[in-house]
Amino acid sequence: MIHYDVRRFTSVPSTMDICRQLAEQGAPEGVVVVADAQTAGRGRAGRAWYSPPGQAIYLSLLLRPSLTARRLSWLTMIGALAVLDVLDALGVPSSRAGLKWANDVLLDGKKVAGILVEAALTADRLDYAVLGIGFNVNTDFGDAPEAVRAQATSVRQAMARTMDLSNALDLLLAALAERYAQLPASPLPAYVARLETLGRPVRLRVGDEEVVGVAERVEEDGTLVVNTPFGLRHVAFGDLLDRCVHS
Ligand code: BTN
Repeated sequence: MIHYDVRRFTSVPSTMDICRQLAEQGAPEGVVVVADAQTAGRGRAGRAWYSPPGQAIYLSLLLRPSLTARRLSWLTMIGALAVLDVLDALGVPSSRAGLKWANDVLLDGKKVAGILVEAALTADRLDYAVLGIGFNVNTDFGDAPEAVRAQATSVRQAMARTMDLSNALDLLLAALAERYAQLPASPLPAYVARLETLGRPVRLRVGDEEVVGVAERVEEDGTLVVNTPFGLRHVAFGDLLDRCVHS
C-alpha cells in the first residue's frame, strides 16, 4: 500500500505546482499536498477551478507508478473511481453518482469533482505523475461565476447536509490507496461501469474542431470512440460539451 506524507497548507496558488516542485526535488511517491484554498486552482484545458477556503478538498498526490505514457489516463480513472467510493461511503445512492468522460465525477448530473493528471515522461515511461483532485464536498456556489454555478454541485448542496471535511479527506486517501494498489490491473472496467457517457449523443471540442456523434466505447488508453456520420472518431483528449440530440 502507498505510504502517505500529507503536507497541509492554508492557501496556495495551486496544489499542483507545489506537488510538482516536490517531485522535481526527488520527493517519493505518496506525498500529498492539501490546501484549504487555492488562489489559482486549475482544471483541464487551462480552465480555472473554483477553490473557496474551507469548503472543499483540493489535493495533489505524487505518484511514481511503473506505467507507460499510454496508461496515463488510468490515473485519472483511479482518481474518479476513488471519489465515487467516497460518495458511496457518505451514503450517496450510487444511482445519483456517475462519471463523465474523461475526468468528471457527477452527482445528479452536475460536476462534484474533477481530476487533473500532470506527468513528466522520459521517452515512453512516466517519471512521475501528479494526480490532482478537486472535490466539492461542502462548496457553496453562491459567490461562484455563473458558468460554474450552472454546472457544478457539492455533496452538501445535493444531500442538504454538511459533511466533515477531514473525514471526507481520510476516506478519499484510503480509497485512492486501495484503487492504486490494484495496478497493474486495469481500472477501465470499473470506470466504464460507472460512465454515463456511453451510448449517448455527445458533442466534443477537439482542438478547434467539434466532433458530434454517439459515444461508443473507451479504449484501454482512455481514448473515447465516437460514432459520427463520417465514421468512427478516436478522441484522445477532448472536452465533452453538453450532451446533445444527434439526428
Ligand atoms: C477538471 O475538472 O478540469 C480538473 C480539476 C482539478 C482541480 C484540482 S483542485 C486540486 C488540484 N490543484 C489544482 O490547481 N487543480 C487540481
